[in-house]
Amino acid sequence: MTDKKLWAGRFAAPTDAFVEAFTASVEFDQRLAPYDIQGSIAHATMLARQGILSDAERDAIIGGLERILARIEAGGFQWSVELEDVHMNIEAALTDDIGIAGKKLHTGRSRNDQVATDVRLWLRAELVEIRSAVRRLQHALVDLAEREADTIMPGFTHLQTAQPITFGHHMMAWFEMLERDHARIADCGTRLNVMPLGAAALAGTSYPIDRDYTAGLLGFDRPAENSLDAVSDRDFAIEFAAAASILMMHLSRMSEELIIWSSAQFHFITLSDSFCTGSSIMPQKKNPDVPELIRGKSGRVFGHLVALLTLMKSQPLAYNKDNQEDKEPLFDAVDNVKGSLKVFADMVPAITCNHDAMRQAAMKGFATATDLADYLVRKGTAFRDAHEVVGKSVAYCIQKGCDLADLGLDELRRFSPAIDDDVFDCLTLDGSVAARDHIGGTAPAQVRKAIERARARLD
Ligand code: ARG
Repeated sequence: MTDKKLWAGRFAAPTDAFVEAFTASVEFDQRLAPYDIQGSIAHATMLARQGILSDAERDAIIGGLERILARIEAGGFQWSVELEDVHMNIEAALTDDIGIAGKKLHTGRSRNDQVATDVRLWLRAELVEIRSAVRRLQHALVDLAEREADTIMPGFTHLQTAQPITFGHHMMAWFEMLERDHARIADCGTRLNVMPLGAAALAGTSYPIDRDYTAGLLGFDRPAENSLDAVSDRDFAIEFAAAASILMMHLSRMSEELIIWSSAQFHFITLSDSFCTGSSIMPQKKNPDVPELIRGKSGRVFGHLVALLTLMKSQPLAYNKDNQEDKEPLFDAVDNVKGSLKVFADMVPAITCNHDAMRQAAMKGFATATDLADYLVRKGTAFRDAHEVVGKSVAYCIQKGCDLADLGLDELRRFSPAIDDDVFDCLTLDGSVAARDHIGGTAPAQVRKAIERARARLD
């Protein structure tokens, strides 16, 4: 293997040993190898088609690159820090293997357009996986929503009991959050799918290249319009990190609810033992580690977004070495988003609902107070007056230590003569949820319709 630097021509002194290690990226960017090779094969194919390489040189290059890829995949490739990055490691190995033709591969391109192309190809493939992981979690949520479409629980605002809802409705709220994430990630993929290759270092190249042809070979929608922008643009990375951050923010909120609900105080749900761990000192403990860790990982992904924004802020055109710092945040964001989605989707089907605890909780906290106000409105009372009547009834119940449904008709009528004995229907939890029977409402019938629409969207 040639350890001489591929760019050493104008240098008299060798690179400082620490600088060499400090500036190298091969330890992490070797992950781009399959995409680097894919890009190089397309580039060589185009060069030969344009008469810049001979067909024999092209075939030697492609054969050599394929052998290198096989070696990398088998774990038998020797990465060298002296060769700085994935691009020069592969190029040097190619030249070692096929000789002079290997030295011709870099004709009409630069590492600047090469790396920008590699990262886009890599992220494009990862986006496909992330989208299907989002879909998998959505499927799990829809199934759980269907199982628990009739399950009553208290709905909260300010984490104070607000109105009764169904657990299925709550799961479908999560589904909607993920639906937007899925769309955001797809959208990020449309702007990403533009090819930098051909921009070369920054200004383009003097060879008669055919960028449309290379773009077609690599599945890009088109070549990037401007060579300076092509080598310096990392918007796609920032857009992804932003979409990933929003997705992680959603997973964090969902996790937080699972953590609260699985506490002894709430006891709304039980998480499967397989997704919890114990304490080394307190024998009674079963900790919701998985949702806690996902909640924690959200912070790490937000950090990558800020890192990428800060990386690009104030950079003059065109390529700067700063850009090498785009990879680790991106790689880590992708790994953690994928891991979080996977484990969340595995965990959801194993959630058990403690129906009695949820129903008991919904009966506390005057969850049907709004229903009583709506009842009075139906009897001709103005809403503001009805609000006042119910407020007073609630204050009375608090004093007495009971719920609205525990009051007798006579007691209720003290607050408004408009109240009749049909009032008790609207004070029940099932009556309350069933009444919210419009698109987007919590009535079990509506949740079932929402599930049906969701399934149609998923297929
Ligand atoms: N390892 C570099 C990176 O990740 C590749 C591009 C290097 N280009 C350069 N002009 N030094 O950005």
